[in-house]
Amino acid sequence: MSEKLDNKKMSSQDRDTLDSAIAEMKERLDQRHPIERKVKFFLDVRGYLKLNAIKGNYIEFGSFRSWTQYAAFKVLEETQMIDGYVGLDAFIGEPSPTTDEALHMPVMAAGDFLCPYEEVLNFVESSFNEKGHIIRGDFREANILKEAEDYTPISLAVVDCNLVSSLEASTRFVMENAVPGCVIFIDDYYTNFGQGQAVVADMCDRLAADTGWRLIDHSFYPPFAKSFILAR
Ligand SMILES: C[S@@+](CC[C@H](N)C(=O)[O-])C[C@H]1O[C@@H](n2cnc3c(N)ncnc32)[C@H](O)[C@@H]1O
Repeated sequence: MSEKLDNKKMSSQDRDTLDSAIAEMKERLDQRHPIERKVKFFLDVRGYLKLNAIKGNYIEFGSFRSWTQYAAFKVLEETQMIDGYVGLDAFIGEPSPTTDEALHMPVMAAGDFLCPYEEVLNFVESSFNEKGHIIRGDFREANILKEAEDYTPISLAVVDCNLVSSLEASTRFVMENAVPGCVIFIDDYYTNFGQGQAVVADMCDRLAADTGWRLIDHSFYPPFAKSFILAR
């Protein structure tokens, strides 16, 4: 067996050689950009959408600067399966967590991810070939979700909004407005473990049961995202 496959047989290495091997692996294996896992997801799902003719809208809850939304457009437009690309965000930073939410998500603070609405609007209006839209406001509120109904049914969803109450409102909206075969990417699947409870996973299972979907495992995107296909 080659030395590469069995570290019992590896010849002894001095500390410098080991350090440089680890440095090389860190450089090669680490993400290079904060939205890299999302771009990987779009590449992974592209053939699935096309081959199965899963058609509908792309929706992103917690779209921030719309970079991920734009990456979806750049990767998926060639499939001709996406009607429109809509992002929702408060544009005033993260809402204040309740005491309970802060316990589940200890590192987040109200006001994180503040970004200028006008700048993002300008970017979206000029970059998506008329197919990009953003909705400003707290999407836990019914009037904001009402606006999102213009961009349904949903075939691809990115839920990326940290707080349990935001995750719950947006995941419910996706499940209530999804086409069969819709793919949902939950960036926070393995966050909110501050109390050692799987609150996001439990919530997804409960919402899927409420809305009559089976959650079919799709993939894992480290460090904390997971994707599922919604099947009847
Ligand atoms: C992690 S950031 C999103 C990052 C973005 N998806 C990306 O890939 O670059 C989370 C965003 O969710 C937004 N957010 C969280 N809860 C919200 C709510 N209830 N209504 C509107 N926006 C919310 C925050 O304002 C923040 O911009």
